Amino acid sequence: MSTDKKYLTTSTGAPVGDNQNSITAGHRGPTLIQDVHLLEKLAHFNRERVPERVVHAKGAGAHGVFEVTNDLSKYTKANFLSEVGKKTPMFIRFSTVAGELGSADTVRDPRGFAVKFYTDEGNYDLVGNNTPIFFIRDAIKFPDFIHTQKRNPRTHLKDPNMVWDFWSHSPESLHQVTYLHGDRGLPATLRHMNGYGSHTFKWVNEQGEGVWVKYHFISDQGVKNMDEALAGKLAGENPDYHIEDLYNAIEDGDFPSWTLYVQIMPLEDANSYRFDPFDVTKVWSHKDYPLVEVGKMTLNKNPENYFAEVEQATFSPGNFVPGIEASPDKMLQGRLFAYSDAHRYRVGANHNALPINASKAPVHNYQRDGQLRFDGNGGGAPNYEPNSYNGPVETPENKIAPFEVSGFADSVAYDHNDHYTQAGDLYRLMSPEERTRLVNAVVGGLQGVEKDEIKLRQISHFYKADPEYGTRVAEGLGLQVPQNV
Ligand code: HEM
Repeated sequence: MSTDKKYLTTSTGAPVGDNQNSITAGHRGPTLIQDVHLLEKLAHFNRERVPERVVHAKGAGAHGVFEVTNDLSKYTKANFLSEVGKKTPMFIRFSTVAGELGSADTVRDPRGFAVKFYTDEGNYDLVGNNTPIFFIRDAIKFPDFIHTQKRNPRTHLKDPNMVWDFWSHSPESLHQVTYLHGDRGLPATLRHMNGYGSHTFKWVNEQGEGVWVKYHFISDQGVKNMDEALAGKLAGENPDYHIEDLYNAIEDGDFPSWTLYVQIMPLEDANSYRFDPFDVTKVWSHKDYPLVEVGKMTLNKNPENYFAEVEQATFSPGNFVPGIEASPDKMLQGRLFAYSDAHRYRVGANHNALPINASKAPVHNYQRDGQLRFDGNGGGAPNYEPNSYNGPVETPENKIAPFEVSGFADSVAYDHNDHYTQAGDLYRLMSPEERTRLVNAVVGGLQGVEKDEIKLRQISHFYKADPEYGTRVAEGLGLQVPQNV
């Protein structure tokens, strides 16, 4: 057999004699079950899909590098942030939230901004969005919220009644609803939007001292948004517009980059700040906690294979490295469970061994077996610990920084309940033109709602954020602001 050309094989490596004609009994006879190449080809094809992500199904990925530009090692012992000039390979996946795998890119929706840093101490995932806040602030509400963003169980249509019913009953969503219906709800491209960790995280230094941080990736391309009419047109004409733009930019060597900043809050400020700094529906004032530069992320390589890299990528907010820890944010706490659970279901128990997810630092542990264990499975090394055979041992210097907890275990809301001040501040920050576009977008969304009761409840929230905001939405809908607001 000639070796200068690759020859086709079965998945078990045997050469294939005919890949065009199935084996039949005579020229007109039925197909033989003996044609195992045909059977395997059809059977494998039937299993090509894994379940799509239950949220953030449609996405684009890219490889890149993160380089430290400012030494913040007095705040965190995270090795990948330890010195100026240190470079860490990374992978990012951008996504829309509500749509399915084939849905349009240019819809009004938050965008996922999930970054995996392959650090010398294992993978650190920052699974954020292009919004610094979120619609809800307790994980227990997430499945209900997402149901309203997906399809109506009866009609299988997107349903504004569900969306606004939920939002109007959940005033904590007002800030993000305002953000989403503003210009940033329709980014021009994935390159022209910022990314945020959204939650508060804890950084811990070598001395075990902590600070609270919030992450901001600011686009070096600048923030650009898309006109609503163009977004609608593109959604029909080129539903993959954002994926295509990112792919082409990287392919053309026009590498997009983001500068990473953090806001840093002393631990004790969390006890006295004017709202709860762990509440993900709120931003921290930049005057109180200015942005401090950390480094630069540059995307410089497209995936070689979409399924292997983008679809099989598994990001978890629980993937921390020493020096970065969770905060008591009730949403973050729920997410610490939800992602790895999704990955075990969606990709399999050994998803972390797949090339796109595998740590570039060595992995030594006592996990064994499971479906599709393809990495040698620990070979003959001991599979229990403690042991007398020189197996890997824990490193106490990498324990989390202990923190105090107090109070009664109970199901309680955050102590601070002001859902209106920051939503109103955001409205007042907008230019007159953007306010008009915001009101139009909100009115456009609410117009499809059948019950006036829902519209009026939502108008009351807008009014409480800013009387002008509520009045203009009411006018747009041909309604009056309720008297009892
Ligand atoms: C994806 C759950 C809140 C950002 C996902 C997935 C689940 C999930 C199950 C699919 C994971 C997969 O199949 O790989 C939750 C829950 C939340 C929550 C339970 C609240 C308690 C948030 C928030 C953000 C966020 C607040 C942003 C700040 C993302 C992103 C992805 C994602 C970016 C896509 C990751 C990727 O590209 O693979 N979420 N989520 N989620 N979520 Fe959340």
